Formats: sequence, C-alpha cells, structure tokens
Amino acid sequence: MKRTQCGTVSADQVGERVALRGWVHRRRDHGGVMFLDVRDRSGRVQVVVRPEEHADVSQALEGVRHEWVLAVEGVVARRAPEAINPQLRTGDIEVVADSARILAASEPLPFGIDGGGDASDETRLRHRFLDLRGQELQGNLALRHRVTMESMKFFDEHEFLNIETPMLTRSTPEGARDYLVPSRVHQGSFYALPQSPQLFKQILMVSGFERYVQIARCFRDEDLRADRQPEFTQIDVEMSFIDEEDVFSLIEGLFERLFPLVGIEPSTPFPRMAYDHAMRRYGSDRPDLRFGLEIEDLTEVWSSSTFRVFESVLSTGGVIRAVRVPGGAGASRKQVDKWADVVRLYGAQGVLTLKHRDGGVEFQVKDVLEPGQIEQAAQQLELEEGDLALVVAASESVAAASLGALRLKIAEELELIDESRHEFVWITDFPLVEWNSDESRWEALHHPFTSPLEEHLEKLDSDPGSVRARAYDVVLNGLELGGGSIRIHRQDVQNRVLGLLGIDLEEAEERFGFLLRALRFGAPPHGGIALGFDRLIMLMAGASSLRDVIAFPKTASASCLMTEAPSGVSADQLQDLGIRVARRPTIVGRDDGEGDRDGEGGRDDSAGTGSESPTSE
Ligand code: AMO
Repeated sequence: MKRTQCGTVSADQVGERVALRGWVHRRRDHGGVMFLDVRDRSGRVQVVVRPEEHADVSQALEGVRHEWVLAVEGVVARRAPEAINPQLRTGDIEVVADSARILAASEPLPFGIDGGGDASDETRLRHRFLDLRGQELQGNLALRHRVTMESMKFFDEHEFLNIETPMLTRSTPEGARDYLVPSRVHQGSFYALPQSPQLFKQILMVSGFERYVQIARCFRDEDLRADRQPEFTQIDVEMSFIDEEDVFSLIEGLFERLFPLVGIEPSTPFPRMAYDHAMRRYGSDRPDLRFGLEIEDLTEVWSSSTFRVFESVLSTGGVIRAVRVPGGAGASRKQVDKWADVVRLYGAQGVLTLKHRDGGVEFQVKDVLEPGQIEQAAQQLELEEGDLALVVAASESVAAASLGALRLKIAEELELIDESRHEFVWITDFPLVEWNSDESRWEALHHPFTSPLEEHLEKLDSDPGSVRARAYDVVLNGLELGGGSIRIHRQDVQNRVLGLLGIDLEEAEERFGFLLRALRFGAPPHGGIALGFDRLIMLMAGASSLRDVIAFPKTASASCLMTEAPSGVSADQLQDLGIRVARRPTIVGRDDGEGDRDGEGGRDDSAGTGSESPTSE
C-alpha cells in the first residue's frame, strides 16, 4: 500500500484505508483502548488500537513506547465531537488500526520531543538528533531550505553564476583568527579555512564572471555568542561595473522576495543612515529603529557649565549626551544605579539625572547649570512631565557605546519594542580605518580591499581617520544582517591603503600577492556584499539564537557535543603531519556545561553594542 503522510490525513478520507509510517509521539491507554499519536515529517495523526476488534494489532503494539518507529494501516474515521482536537491539523479524525508492525524500538528518551522538559542544553546538544525531531527545529530547517532555494532562483534570474571557492586555502583578512589545517604533503605548512570567499570573489571579477553568488561556508575563530558561530554561512555576492545603488537595489529585491515567505513585507527602498549619524543618535552602527529614544547631544548647550565633571570631560574633547526615559522621573535610586551599571560596562563613570516633575525640570547637581541651559536640554530631549533623562559625560566613543546600550535596555524595560515591526536600514559612509590604540596602528574597519570615497583619497595620508569608505551594512532590528563594499580596483590605491594599514609590500605579497597580481591584469571596477545566512534565517524564524536554525551547531566554546569535536588524534596521524602537540587535548564536554547557552550572552548582547568595538564585525 502506498504510504500516506501522517499530517496530511483529512476528513475527506473518512472510510478510506491508509498506510502510515512514523514515530510514536505519544501513547495513552484509556479503558483498554490504546491511543497513539504517530508523527512523521508532515505532522501527527491519532491512531486508535481497539483490542476487541483487532487483538493481533493490540498484541503487536503492546510494548511500544515513545519514539518507537511503526508501520500502521487502518481506516480513517471521524472523531466524536468531544474528542476533536482543534490544536492539531488532523484533530477531527483518527485512524483505526487494523494492522501494525514495529520497525524500530527506541531506548528511553532523555527528554520529550516537543515536550520541553527540563533537560539541560548539554543533554539536548548531545542528543541533537532527538532535538531535531521537534516541530520548531524541523520548521526552522524547512524554512532554511526554502530560503536557500528562493535565493538561488532569484540570483539565477538576475544572471548570477554560482561558483564554488576552495575551503583549503590561505588566510583571508576579515579580522578574526583562522582555523588552520595542517598539510601532510608540505609538512610544517598549513591551509587556512576561509573567513569568507572575499579574495576569490574579487579574482572571479578580474576573470570576467561579472556576477558571482555562492552560499558559502565561512570559518572564524572568534568569541562566540547567540548571533555568532565559528562556522557559519553567507550568501556571498560580487558584481562588476556597478556602484552602491546596484547592490542596494539587488539586496532589497532579494529581501522583497524572501521575507514574504514568513509573512513580512519589507518596505523598500530601505532608509540609509550615515555611520556618524547612527553612532551619534543611536550609539551603534546597527541601530534598532523599532523605537525612538534617540540620543541627544548636550555638549553645545552645556559647554559653559562650571561643573567640574563636565569641565574635565570637555577639556579632553569629550561629549555630554543623554537619553530620555519616558515616565522615569519617579525611578528609585536603586533603579538609577542599575542604569549606571549598564554605562559603566562600557567605560562611562555613571549617569546624572535630569528630571521633569512638579511642573519644572531639575538637574541632579544643583547650581552648576543655568535655568536656561536646563530648559534648552529639556526641549531638545522633548522631556515631558514625569520623564527622566540619563546624562553621560565621556569620550565620544564611550558615550556612544554606553548610551547605545542604555537606550536598548530602557526600551526593553519599558517594553517599547514592537516585535511585529521590521525596520531595515542601510548604514553607509563607514570610516575606512580605525585607530588601534593598543597596537598604535590603523586598522581596516571592514577589510583592506574596501575602496575609500574617491573625494577622500587626498586625505589618506594627512587625516586617515576622517576618510570615509564605500562600505555599507544592512541592518534589521538592531542586528547586522550583511555587509559589503565597493572594492579598490586600482593597484596604486590598494598599495596606499596597505601602506596606511602598516602592511608593507613584501608582507602584502606574502599574504595575498595573488590578489594584488590579479589587480594588475585589467581589474574591472567591482563590489559586493555578504549576508549572514544563519542570521537571516534566525530573524525570519523569529528565533533568538543561531543554534535554532543550524542543524548541528557548536557551543559557546566552539565544540560539537554530539560528535565531541574537536578531538584528539592518533599518534600516527600526528606523525604523518610532522606535528608534536605540546598540551594534552582537552576533552569536549568537560567544559561545555549546562550554563552554555547563558554563556553565549543571548539576545541582549547581540542587539547591543557588545563589550567590544561596536564595529568589530
Ligand atoms: P562580514 O565580515 O561583515 O563581511 O560578514 C558578512 C555577514 O556575515 C555574518 N557573520 C556571521 N554570522 C554568524 N557567525 C559569525 N561568526 C559571523 N560573522 C559574520 C554577519 C555579517 O554581516 N567578505 C565580507 C563581505 C564583503 O565585503 O562582500 C564579509 O565577510 O551577518
């Protein structure tokens, strides 16, 4: 008999005989009758086993437990009205079994499928094959598949070629540590797994492919959290003879195609925001635009204050900025201290309060501001009766990061974030380089192949910090979904930028000489973008961690608890590779305890500026 999928059995089939294959999702015994929910990929259906009618079936299934695999045949029947389950797609019918076989038994389960239970994350990840049976992960991976298919269809229609690039390659400078693979043939030499296909996709442009796309696996050995995995996937794109606008409209078109799959209609074109504006107003280069509470700069209006805290900050080029807390004027000292703790995490000294109550506005420290200065600040912040403003005086970067984090915290506490909104934004005009004060050198904000604005080329030597790049990120609800740039296609400009980054020509030749060589042989103007595919699916699925959209994810300490990778290897293997290990291998699992998911930092971290540089991606 041809198999019928459990979730598709319907009232139209009442009286028909169907053959089901699937797992026992639930078993109940009631008045001598056995009820089994049988589940396959399509869903579930209730199977009834009546011993008085089919003693043989009842006997065959006597010992079945949860997650045993069965073959059942039977007749579809309408359920009695009181037995209808409106939660279940097949809730109005059941299948009365007249034949059954056990295809496989299961050991007792460490946790229930879909049932939650209190299994630790560690237990779930060790038994990932079971967790993956649950509806949520099944649905997320089905969505992931659909998005992959739709994306490739979209790029195909736009004349992109899908081209694979190597996994065993050389280091790509994306700013993280490499995963290395030792070579057996060339002992002492290592391949690097790609941090992205960046160099190869640029070379494909030099080779004349004009439009490249790849769903590419990338590897980065960096600190992990809910929105970062050591091994992740990008939709990687590169195009020749284009500018920023071509990239923007392509990606907007892609999102217009993909997001409706989950009922979201993005409104295009997406707004654009310059990096400087995003940092000043939202304290982040990935602003969450689902709510207001923009950061206000009070440096101008309060510059003449004699308050020594302000004086000392302003004398070293710092700023005074504030964020409004609607209805916060009555907040307790303890509550204000908690907000102060948030800004301290980012290096600020604390917060000062400005309160609008009893018809007037007062600053926490008396007699250091003129009434006019207080009034002006209140106006700028649009403070209303009952509102509070939290003021931070600090260096520009500390003020931005700390108030950016505070803005998010306040919005969460006051439940100002409308989860049904989807606010896309392009962040543009990133700085080309940023100063690494620990190492006293300029670093590329994106990667060293990003083109400076043409009109800023002359400032490359004299004022590198002010040079803006032809780089852009696409951000959704405070999460960076993707980033890219127009590349440098002129060798002279590339050499100048490398020089600025302190990479001398010899080192450049050694690290990515193949790209520099290619640029000398007729490189077309080109540019592109890479979208974080896992993050895209996470947002589309409404999940809070990348783990929920990756079949076999890694923990916060970059291990796979199911396979127990990474692992030690045999002495023979090491000898073949010419490698001696200085330390005994750590055993995966010993350090991957239950608190793992907490250790990732969660959505809080991923939406905020993070404890590292807000632009560290
Ligand atoms: P970038 O480094 O910005 O750009 O990466 C592009 C996008 O990839 C996602 N992403 C990650 N997702 C999960 N886990 C990670 N560890 C992780 N790291 C990055 C983010 C990010 O926006 N070669 C350039 C692109 C280009 O210039 O075309 C690049 O890789 O969503």
